[in-house]
Amino acid sequence: MSVVLLSTVSEVRNRLQQVHAQGASIALVPTMGALHGGHQALIRHAAMENDFVVVSDFVNPTQFGPNEDFARYPRDLQHDQQRAAEAGAHLLFLPSVEEIYPTLSTTFQVDVGRLGTLLCGASRPGHFNGVATVVLKLLEIVQPERVYFGQKDFQQARIIEQMIAAFFLPVQMVVCPTVREVDGLALSSRNRYLNGEERVAATALYRSLLQLQSLLIAGERDPRQLSRHIETFLGEDERLRVEYVALVDPFTLEEVQQITAPFLCAMAVHIGNTRLIDNMLFSPHGEILPPDRFFQGTDLQ
Ligand code: PAF
Repeated sequence: MSVVLLSTVSEVRNRLQQVHAQGASIALVPTMGALHGGHQALIRHAAMENDFVVVSDFVNPTQFGPNEDFARYPRDLQHDQQRAAEAGAHLLFLPSVEEIYPTLSTTFQVDVGRLGTLLCGASRPGHFNGVATVVLKLLEIVQPERVYFGQKDFQQARIIEQMIAAFFLPVQMVVCPTVREVDGLALSSRNRYLNGEERVAATALYRSLLQLQSLLIAGERDPRQLSRHIETFLGEDERLRVEYVALVDPFTLEEVQQITAPFLCAMAVHIGNTRLIDNMLFSPHGEILPPDRFFQGTDLQ
């Protein structure tokens, strides 16, 4: 199947007006391009549940800090077009920075508050304000029935869910499980930065989450002990630098003091110049849980 490429807001709006007039349901899969199997799983899921799938492909400058990888973030239109078409997308929206941030409008931003200061927000101030701002713009442009996100960016998904609720946006959010390589590494556009040796070391994130599962099954319930174990495990490989490992409430993202209910273990780890994140949801007994039931509140239809 071929996918239509459009780059302006007015072109997208005109095309989607026609789609709406035919009574078709519209889905949005927001991405920054460098599409991989995780994005494709979101697009496939969206294509199963909707008649028309829009994929936005936009490296959003407002979510990158001054020393982050905005300039070197992988951009590959041909590759993205092929991947999006393969997975069943109908429209690929490729706006310029000027199209999304017309003059003066950069001063208008969504402030996500405390949720944006926790976990990844501690080292990336303003990141989630940038994410929420661009997602709000994309939702306003596309006005989809459903919007799709991956569990790998759990904090992002929680923040977008809260934004949808706060602004009464008429859209249903769907969060799909993380897609992994056969050795467990979570798919991410940033995996492209890893050299051979770093790529091998990167499996430690997944392996550490499985370690946590074993500890829970063995009966360990002290969150401090558990996170210490994980940090020690990751610290055994000198190529890794742990930014954080946190056991948090999956709804508030605040650290848990005891483990009596399902929780999220989230982490950020640096390998060379690459920052990787991963997470899993666990029951107190060590069962790995899927994300969907943690995001039910977003079905506003
Ligand atoms: O997850 C991403 O790729 C980005 O944060 C998103 C949601 C496309 C916003 O730029």
